[in-house]
Amino acid sequence: MRVLITGTSRGIGRAIAQKFLSQGHTVAGIDLLPATITHGNYTHYFADLCSDDLPDVGAVDILINNAGGQDTGADIDVNLKTAIRMTEKYGVKEGIKSVLFIASASARTGSEFPEYAASKGGVVAYMKNVAMRIAPFGATCNSLSPGGVLTASNDRVMNDPALWSQIMEVTPLKKWAAEEEIAEFAFFLTAVNKSMTAQDILVDNGEANNYKFIW
Ligand SMILES: NC(=O)c1ccc[n+]([C@@H]2O[C@H](COP(=O)([O-])OP(=O)(O)OC[C@H]3O[C@@H](n4cnc5c(N)ncnc54)[C@H](O)[C@@H]3O)[C@@H](O)[C@H]2O)c1
Repeated sequence: MRVLITGTSRGIGRAIAQKFLSQGHTVAGIDLLPATITHGNYTHYFADLCSDDLPDVGAVDILINNAGGQDTGADIDVNLKTAIRMTEKYGVKEGIKSVLFIASASARTGSEFPEYAASKGGVVAYMKNVAMRIAPFGATCNSLSPGGVLTASNDRVMNDPALWSQIMEVTPLKKWAAEEEIAEFAFFLTAVNKSMTAQDILVDNGEANNYKFIW
């Protein structure tokens, strides 16, 4: 299948691209950083998704909106509006098989930076809107909401033993997810799943469920 993924130069998007490539699919990636993947079935489009012109990559079977950032000063533009523009251009059309959004646990709990939380909450609401509009094509649309993932974007807390220990105190499984594990979820939700749509999947090592039983 032809898979379009945003934000493929590093982190989760790069791991998702590599998962699809390893399974024999063709991947187009869009990023404002240069390509870091060298593979015969990978085409890199060097572009800022916030700019007026989105690159023309042709028809796609699967769209994965992954590019994003936190506390960028423009999180609604970077995380929400670019995902809407990409989906209206590539996802809402006959022939599409699946659309996936990488949202965040923040969309469920409201935690983290205010504009980031709002942007990801918007992504989940928009995902449900798209799911109904592409259902007539037989296509699924879901979002994946990771808690902490071991990516360079989290170096600040991952490299600070005191902050890391506080994070582990509130994380029941006492770990964060690897990029490769999030990529496995992304692959399953888009390439394997045929029946689940309009759902947000939380992958957070139990953090949002960390209740305190006071007796
Ligand atoms: N890492 C985590 O703990 C975590 C947790 C929950 C959700 N997420 C979400 O997962 C997604 C990926 O996160 P990550 O940690 O891999 O981030 P990352 O910063 O490592 O990678 C993001 C990629 O997107 C690209 N990008 C950002 N803005 C862009 C733009 N305007 N145009 C083109 N490319 C752009 C970057 O250049 C980069 O290659 C984000 O949407 C993020 O909010 C991450």
